[in-house]
Amino acid sequence: MRRKIVAGNWKMNKNYDEAMDLVRDLAEMLNDDILGKTDVIIAPPAVLLPNIVEELWDVDYISVAAQNCHHEIAGAYTGEISTDMLASIEVDAVIVGHSERRHYFGETDAIIAKKIDRCFEDDLVPIYCCGETLEERKAGAHFEVVARQMTEALGHLSDEEMMEVVIAYEPVWAIGTGETATPEQAQEMHAHIREHLSVIFNADVADEVSILYGGSCKPSNAKELFAQPDVDGGLIGGASLVAEDFVAIVAALKS
Ligand code: PGA
Repeated sequence: MRRKIVAGNWKMNKNYDEAMDLVRDLAEMLNDDILGKTDVIIAPPAVLLPNIVEELWDVDYISVAAQNCHHEIAGAYTGEISTDMLASIEVDAVIVGHSERRHYFGETDAIIAKKIDRCFEDDLVPIYCCGETLEERKAGAHFEVVARQMTEALGHLSDEEMMEVVIAYEPVWAIGTGETATPEQAQEMHAHIREHLSVIFNADVADEVSILYGGSCKPSNAKELFAQPDVDGGLIGGASLVAEDFVAIVAALKS
């Protein structure tokens, strides 16, 4: 059975005090009733990861992800963070290939493929983001673009590795814009992603991989999106910064 997951991507938001308040609120508000079988992951800014991992030491229902990692093991890469460093402070997962990193930092799927390999070397779960721009969707190229991204970043993995990857489909035009993909648009792309997984891997792998939707997901639209058969949860940006909203989204995934 594939995992149901709600992940919060805090991006470059929250200073130390704000982050600790948010994480304590989440730990207090989330309970078995809200969680059901859902796995909750939060991805705070890198500088706060050690404090947050420590704060959540006895809270087994919230995992912690980094928002990025470097694709080399170690060395002269000023300002960068390695998967070994993340693993050494007990981070669980890493978001790789977010469209903001692709856009602002020129990350390609070839680089992202290396980051995913680094994650596996250090037992970190990669949360792989893919998705088309507005121009690509308008040109009718969205299915092709996402398939190509997946082939380039994931195609080299073994079946066993692929089953560990979490995919987040995040149409770039929906991120932080308030414009959400309709449940139908999300479902057709998620089904396409699963179909493409069965082409590059096989049907068992395709069935096992969790595919999250991301892009202006909020309490008011989460339930409809999560009701789609191939949507296994969400990667939440803006709405993950407010405890009540994030918890409401987690609640919306409980079947
Ligand atoms: P958003 O961001 O929910 O603010 O649109 C989602 C994301 O970028 O992961």
